[in-house]
Amino acid sequence: MTERVCLITGASRGIGAATARELAGRGYAVVVNHRDSAPAADAVAHDVRAAGGDAEVVQADVTDPGDVTRLVDTAQQRWGRLDVLVHNAMTPFPVTSFADLRWDQLGTKLDQELRAAHLLTHAVLPGMTDRGYGRLVYLSTGLSRRPRTGMIALGVAKAALDSFVRYVAAEVAPHNITANVVAPSTVDDTAVSERLPDELREQLAAATPMRRLARPEDVARTVAHFAGDDAGFTTGSWAPVNGGLIMP
Ligand SMILES: NC(=O)c1ccc[n+]([C@@H]2O[C@H](COP(=O)([O-])OP(=O)(O)OC[C@H]3O[C@@H](n4cnc5c(N)ncnc54)[C@H](OP(=O)(O)O)[C@@H]3O)[C@@H](O)[C@H]2O)c1
Repeated sequence: MTERVCLITGASRGIGAATARELAGRGYAVVVNHRDSAPAADAVAHDVRAAGGDAEVVQADVTDPGDVTRLVDTAQQRWGRLDVLVHNAMTPFPVTSFADLRWDQLGTKLDQELRAAHLLTHAVLPGMTDRGYGRLVYLSTGLSRRPRTGMIALGVAKAALDSFVRYVAAEVAPHNITANVVAPSTVDDTAVSERLPDELREQLAAATPMRRLARPEDVARTVAHFAGDDAGFTTGSWAPVNGGLIMP
């Protein structure tokens, strides 16, 4: 069978980079997207090729319509197909209480979160629909269901993403396309967790039944499950990767 082709947004570091390595290890050709971190994205692609895999780096801002079209076209021109979208790129958000949250801050985060998901999903669906096969995986967060102080803008934007994915899942299901959400708790070795004070990281780990934070590889393996055929009859789901912190 022709190798499956996967586009991973925001794959220069953190969860996206771990997912690119995981999927490449499972035989997928991977498109490593980044916005501003060419050396880091090149390093991910280098690792994939060194392990015998196939990777292409594409710089693109996932909130820019022209960039998203170019990103998806690049994959389709190189391999003639795109089977899997992992939308992982993290747009910025303010950390603030509701009392200090201005509408323009919340509005900007909502706009960027949904704009990127909308643009990417629109761009990949025609090819998937034509071929009668597709896997859409979106990165959300446990904060979309359980509030944590200061995280209102991210939590609300990701809750909107969760709902967006369920609507997409219902609409594309007849074409053998699945759409699922992977929702980690705090993930070690990422820009987010590195900004947290040690005391809060320890509290979060202690509050987790499995007594540690998630690792990028934990999340990558769950994404790989939804990207593959083992989860082929599961769609519209919200999969926690959190060591039992939230049991929905
Ligand atoms: N880290 C956590 O604790 C955690 C927990 C739950 C959920 N998540 C979710 O998991 C996903 C990945 O998180 P992460 O912590 O691994 O992120 P990260 O380490 O901050 O990496 C973000 C990635 O997104 C890319 N990016 C940012 N803005 C972009 C844009 N406009 N266009 C294209 N790429 C862009 C970055 O590329 P450049 O380097 O080029 O800017 C980078 O590759 C996010 O959706 C996040 O909400 C994370």
